[in-house]
Amino acid sequence: MFDKTPDEGDMSRRGFLSLASMGAVILSFLASLGGILRFTKPNVYYEESKRFKIGKPENFPIGIVKTMEDKNVFIFSENEGLHAISRVCTHLGCLVSLTGTGFDCPCHGSKFDRNGKVIAGPAPRNLPWLKISRNIDGTLVVDAAKDVKMGTTFRV
Ligand code: FES
Repeated sequence: MFDKTPDEGDMSRRGFLSLASMGAVILSFLASLGGILRFTKPNVYYEESKRFKIGKPENFPIGIVKTMEDKNVFIFSENEGLHAISRVCTHLGCLVSLTGTGFDCPCHGSKFDRNGKVIAGPAPRNLPWLKISRNIDGTLVVDAAKDVKMGTTFRV
């Protein structure tokens, strides 16, 4: 009449507990492995390169000022050569605009002369001049991560 003996019920309970403990061991092993593998990946935020091409030298005839809106840089072409000045105000990072005599910051009123030197306002430093170089393909490259001394020009 009885299909199961009392021991079979115990066995299945034992089997279940054995399976559950094995599952817990496997899960904890996988969690540990995941944690270990996570350490193989560095905690680095990748950001866009600060070097960017601005075009061929012939695109910058003497006397021209180009505003690179997307890169926040002004490019000046003068008799002495090219130079790049950052548009980012050294106070709190607003974008300065070009005026007839220099640059104005719309946020808190800092003013800079034509070389980016602070003449008024809360800005603590001059606008940085950025390094210009020529790529191997002949295009000009601005490196917004490298400041150069004010007055440094790139001879084309
Ligand atoms: S951000 Fe330019 S003056 Fe404050």
